Parts: sequence; structure tokens; C-alpha cells
Amino acid sequence: MSGNARDGIVVNAPTRAVKGHDWDGVETDWTKASYGYGAIHFHDDDLNDACWKTDLTVTIPRDALSGAYVVAATGIDANVHDDIAFFESAKPRPKAAFVLSTFTYVAYANEHMWDMSRESKMTMAGGDVVIRKDAYWRRMARHPDLGLAVYDVHNDGSGNVHTTARAGPFSTSAQATADQFMINFLEEQLGRGGYDVVTEHDVHVQGVSMLESYDAVITGCHPEYPSRALIDAYVAYTRGGGNIMYLGGNGFYWCSTTDPARPHRMEVCKGDQGCRSIEVPAGERMHALDGQLGGLWRSRGRYAQTLFGVGPDSCGTGPGVPYKVWVPDEQAAECAWVWKGLEAYQTADSTFSLPLIVEFGFGGGASGDEMDRLDYKLGSPSNAVLLATSTGHDESFGIFNEEMMFPMVDTLGPQCDRVRSDMTYYETAAGGAVFSVGSIEWFCSLAWDNYKNTVAVITWNVLEEFLQRGKGDGMLSVTGNVGWYTD
Ligand SMILES: [Fe+2]
Repeated sequence: MSGNARDGIVVNAPTRAVKGHDWDGVETDWTKASYGYGAIHFHDDDLNDACWKTDLTVTIPRDALSGAYVVAATGIDANVHDDIAFFESAKPRPKAAFVLSTFTYVAYANEHMWDMSRESKMTMAGGDVVIRKDAYWRRMARHPDLGLAVYDVHNDGSGNVHTTARAGPFSTSAQATADQFMINFLEEQLGRGGYDVVTEHDVHVQGVSMLESYDAVITGCHPEYPSRALIDAYVAYTRGGGNIMYLGGNGFYWCSTTDPARPHRMEVCKGDQGCRSIEVPAGERMHALDGQLGGLWRSRGRYAQTLFGVGPDSCGTGPGVPYKVWVPDEQAAECAWVWKGLEAYQTADSTFSLPLIVEFGFGGGASGDEMDRLDYKLGSPSNAVLLATSTGHDESFGIFNEEMMFPMVDTLGPQCDRVRSDMTYYETAAGGAVFSVGSIEWFCSLAWDNYKNTVAVITWNVLEEFLQRGKGDGMLSVTGNVGWYTD
């Protein structure tokens, strides 16, 4: 509404809350400004809803179990095949829930970092990433009309802030695939119907009521794009005595927001710090959808460490490395249940007397891709125990820029002791507990050798313990700081 009877409707989600001709830097929050924001940034590749016609309707049986499903589609040409994934959310209420990182899946939908002609191309310490040009890559390359991820630049070179689930994502994050390893593990360990699948979108809309009946809640391997409502639900769940397993890396990192009227749409305004491939201009870092600051959650004071014990610090493209057990002697006995059964994996050239190595997996170890570490100064609870830490990341791994102050030297794996994954554990005052591993590659190692490995043993030890204990009594009253604290 223009206020001058020149009203209109915008389609395909052009970028809003952008600077106009009269912006002067006095007010950088469009919700407070009386001038300077009278503009819309249109792009020829904006997309909100591809408005595809319905080709196929699938009726889910009422008694279908919660889980991950696919519609297997074969073309008229039998060589053309696609699996269209969907998730049947919780119904029977077993004791464990696996929260699929659907915000991450949408954030990465149809990303173009493989396009080496764009500024947002995938580059890392160690050089460009080699792109495998398979059938999926060719299909993406043929379809520039399917919209962009929040890693991409528009055709005019500006960073993209919107992504949509209504464009038929042909590709999503590799971590979506890794999450399937965990689903398979839960199928094997708890049986069909022994666990529920929940999506981040469900928790965003329904809040803690979506989680509170579970004794244990497990995250995906890369919950990078939580909304505020999602984080609040995790906090409320732990205050209610819940047990969380954060089995990923680079989690709870970017602020994201969705449009209540169009939940398929997501907005992420990446600012001037964080591990990113795009950046929106200064003065355009307040989300248009909710008027709140975009960028890193840590820039809004909501450090991942305060709830999960660890928070994002580094990433790399090289092979994963093992963890080394690091429990202080005085806490070794009370943490021994985490390592139960690892002796079976003792080989001639390794012993499992402490300190031991948690090994196996993609490229050599369970810590890799993107990692999180414990830091009491950034809010890790004072009772969080460092169980294990990764060692030996190579030069392809580097620290995130928000972790550094003075000019960035000694930033790579071999020189920087903050480039690491920490495995942490703490118990909450509400009677629950939080276990974290701080690595995206945990799930890749989980499935190694058909789930016969140390990572699978530890994962089961913690899940079994949480299910046996059940939820705590919860916090009867909250005093003092009511921020993002659980202890
Ligand atoms: Fe990511």
C-alpha cells in the first residue's frame, strides 16, 4: 500500500526492506525508519511459487507410521527415474523423536555453488571443490528457472535472501542424505514405529508441544537454519526435563524466518560475518518478514553453546579425523557409560584404554565437514563435560571469521587449536541432559561398515541411557536470567 492510492501486489518474492534513494545510514532498521526504505529490489530470477499443476496425489493411510518416505517415479523412458521424498510426521508418540532439518533442506534447495561462473561458487581453503557432473547436475544446469538457495547470487550479482519449497527442489544439502543414515539406525535399533520423525517446520509451528512427550529428541546432522520459534522450543523442552542429542555440526547458526502465510518461503539475510557465500548490503540486514536482525544467532546473543554445550567454529573439505577421549580423570568414572562396549572394537594396533580414539568413517574419522566446539566464554554451561575432541584437521580446514578479532593469521587446522569438534555432555537442573558431537560427519561414520563401529556404539549408548532414564521433572520455577539458559 503506497498511501497514495497507487497500491499493488508483488509476486515471486522480490527482496523487501531494502534501501531507497534517500537512505543515509542514520537508521538501519526499516521497522523504525521514517524514510530511506521506499524501495523493492526485483530480480529476473526471483521465485516464490512455481505454481506447478498437480500430476499425482498420494493418499497416506491413516495408520501409516511416522517416517521418511519416497514416491518412486519412473518416466515414460524407463531410464528416467526420481525419488520424491516426503516425511510423515509424528502420530503414535513413541519415546524418541528425530527432528529432520527441513529448514536446512529448504535453505540449500537448488543451490548453485557448483556454477564456477558465479561469485558465490564453492571455494574453500585447499582450492575449489571438484564438481561431479552427474545426471542430477545436468538437470539442475538445464533448469535455471527453479529458483535459488540462500547460498546463491541473482543474475544481477546481488545475494539471494529467499528460498522456496514450491519449486520442486532437484537438489538439497548432502546432509539431507546423511540424515537417512540415522533413520536407518533408528529403524534397526528401535524397530518400525519405535521412533517418530518430526520436521523442523512442525516444531516451528507447534512449538514445544511437538517435542514434550518424548524422552529423547535427536537433531539432524546439520540444523543450521533454525527459526526463533524452533530454538525456543528446544529450550522449553530442556526446561521441561527433556534429553537432547545434538548429533551434528554448524548447527543453530543462521537466523532464519518464514512467512506465516506462506510457510514454503524462507528468508535469510546474511550479514558481514559468518561462513557464507553471499552477503546482503549494509542497511538491509533486518528481515522483511519479521523485522528482526538477520545474520548469525550468536550476533543476537543466542549462542548455540548455551543450550547444546558446543557451537560452530570451523569447516573444511578434507578428510574427517578421529576424536580422542579427553575426559578429566575425576569425571572418567561417571562418564564411563558413554564408552560401554567399545572394547569389542579393539584391534591389534589400537587399545581402548583412555585416551582412546573414536574412529572410522568418511575419509578417516567422524569429525569433519563443519565442526562445533565447547567454549565456556561463549556460554557452554559450567557443568558441561568435554568427553572427546578431534585431532589432526588438515590445511583444508579453517576457523570461521566470527571467531577471530585481530588480523586473521594461524587460522588453518594444523595451526589453530580451535579448529575441532568437541563431544560434550551435561545434565540440566530440570533433570534432563544434553549430549553433543559437534560434527556434520558423525552420521557418515555412523553407517560405516553396516553400523558396526565405535560411532554407532556411542550413539546407541547415549540414546539407550536417555530412554531408560526418561524425562526429568522439569524446572518448577525460573529465577534470574531467563535467557537461553538451562542450568
Ligand atoms: Fe551448511
